[in-house]
Amino acid sequence: IRKDYDAVSDHMANYIKNRILEFNPTLDKPFVLGLPTGSSPVGVYKNFVKYYQNGELSFKNVVTFNMDEYVGLPRDHPESYHSFMWHNLFKFIDILPKNVHILDGNAENLEEECKNFEEKMKSYGGVELFLGGIGPDGHIAFNEPGSSLASRTRAKTLAYDTILANSRFFDNNINKVPRMALTVGVGTVMDAREVAVIITGAHKAPALAKCIEEGVNHMWTVSAIQLHPNALIVCDEDATLEL
Ligand code: GLP
Repeated sequence: IRKDYDAVSDHMANYIKNRILEFNPTLDKPFVLGLPTGSSPVGVYKNFVKYYQNGELSFKNVVTFNMDEYVGLPRDHPESYHSFMWHNLFKFIDILPKNVHILDGNAENLEEECKNFEEKMKSYGGVELFLGGIGPDGHIAFNEPGSSLASRTRAKTLAYDTILANSRFFDNNINKVPRMALTVGVGTVMDAREVAVIITGAHKAPALAKCIEEGVNHMWTVSAIQLHPNALIVCDEDATLEL
C-alpha cells in the first residue's frame, strides 16, 4: 500500500525496472513484458521514459504484449490502445517496433488474430511479468464479470459499466465507445511467471476487497490472482477503504 497514485506508480516502475535489470535480457533471451492501457499505468510509463532518458534502463531487449484493443476502432484513432501505447510510452524509448505486439482489432479474422497472438507469446517462452490494471468491476484486461477464469485471448463484448467508464475518453458519449474488444484471457494473464496489478482510487475499493478478501470468483476476474504463485498488487490508500 502506498500513499497515492504517484507513489504507487514510482513503486511499480522501480520494481519492474529492477526485475528487468536482474533478468539482464539479451537479444536471444529478451524480457517479455505484458502491458495494460488506461490511466492506471500512465505514471509507470512516465517513469520508464525517465529511466530510459537517464540511461538507467534500455528496452532494446524487451518484448511487449498488450492486454487488449478495441474492435473496429481505426488503429490511428486517438483512443485506440495502439495510439495510447505509442503516445504514452513506445515513441519515447528504445524499444524495437518488431518487439511490440498489440492485437489488431481490425483484423479480418478476429479469431485467427487472437490465436496468433497466443502463439507468438508462446514462441517467446511466455510472459515474464504481466502488468495490469483493473476496472471498478474487478475486470482485468477486458475480462468482464462472468469471464471464465481459464479464458484465452478472444473477442469480448464490453459490459455496460465498462462502456460507461470508458466514455470519458470518447467525449462522454457512450455511443462512441466500441462495443467489443480483443483481450487476453484470465488464463493468459495467469500463465505469466509474475502478475503485477495497480489498483488506485476509492472507486476501485470494492474491487480490491473482492479481489483479495473474498473467494476466487469469475464475477471479479482479477480475484484469479489469489491462485497465482507470484502476484503483486500495488494500491493506494484510497483503494483500501473497504478492506
Ligand atoms: C479498461 C482496460 C483495462 C484497464 C481498465 C481500467 O477496461 N481494458 O485493462 O485496467 O480500463 O482503466 P483505468 O486504469 O483508466 O481505471
